[in-house]
Amino acid sequence: MIEYPRYITFPEVSRNPTCVSQVFQTELHVEDGKVFYPALPKLEKYFLSEYQSLRFGAAQFCGFLQDTIHVEHYVVIPAIRDISLLPVKIPQKAHMDLFKLVTDEGHHAAQALVFINAIKDEFNIVVHEKENKIPLFVRELEKQKNNYNDMTKRVLFNMLIGVVTETRISRELGAFVHNKNIINVVRDNCRSHQADEAIHCSQFMALGKYTWELFSEEQKEFAAEVYAKTTIARSMPDVSRIAFYLSQTTNIAREECDKIINSIYTKDFLIEEMLVSISSTINFLKKLGVMEYKVARDIFTQSGVLL
Ligand SMILES: [Fe+2]
Ligand SMILES: [Fe+2]
Repeated sequence: MIEYPRYITFPEVSRNPTCVSQVFQTELHVEDGKVFYPALPKLEKYFLSEYQSLRFGAAQFCGFLQDTIHVEHYVVIPAIRDISLLPVKIPQKAHMDLFKLVTDEGHHAAQALVFINAIKDEFNIVVHEKENKIPLFVRELEKQKNNYNDMTKRVLFNMLIGVVTETRISRELGAFVHNKNIINVVRDNCRSHQADEAIHCSQFMALGKYTWELFSEEQKEFAAEVYAKTTIARSMPDVSRIAFYLSQTTNIAREECDKIINSIYTKDFLIEEMLVSISSTINFLKKLGVMEYKVARDIFTQSGVLL
């Protein structure tokens, strides 16, 4: 019999999830010389003033929060929702503990929405273009999932992208938390989210390990492919959205902004960015044994992720 891996819960570390304290950021205290989002040096020359640059960063952070909302509602919550439908039976206690995380994720999405609204009202920002209400990576993941008609595969897909997301989110948030150039309200927002994610990550890693152990060879082959494909899809930066923000915060025409952004986000630059954000997921997948599957190795190699 395979034992369910150990994981941590909030009571075990004598902490409450942040949803208990219900802190929502609505005040924007912009400190001198600090930014909302790590600046892209190559882009700075296009801003006519410090305010334009600050406003662009604010828009970029709104995009990040928009992604957060969708990660929670479209990825993590559905992964937990579908646990009882998995072809592998999850022990009762682990199932209950995972269910408790839905409240945290709902709170993170609410926190993100409140914060987006505060920023967008202050800086008069449009967060997305009319036709792109759903962030690019969610559209991509939905497209991948829709390739499967089989219900069990779709349920597995939801769980696998849940594992991918929860093994990387802490690192993404950490990039803001540890950056002293970022304004404090942004760091506080990310810090509070990150505090919960340490526990989520441990529970999702346990789920990922346990299911992998119990998967049939055919299911492992499928999981290896989905793990690899979605790890890459989750990292696709929405360059079109960045160009939209640039055109909004400068007087540069939209098509020109597309050209500027595409010239900065070259293939090498994209790979470099991706390697930073996926490293913890990759380590987890390596330990699991996913890289022993050719299908996964091929996907990572083709995407420029060296193994
Ligand atoms: Fe979250
Ligand atoms: Fe989470």
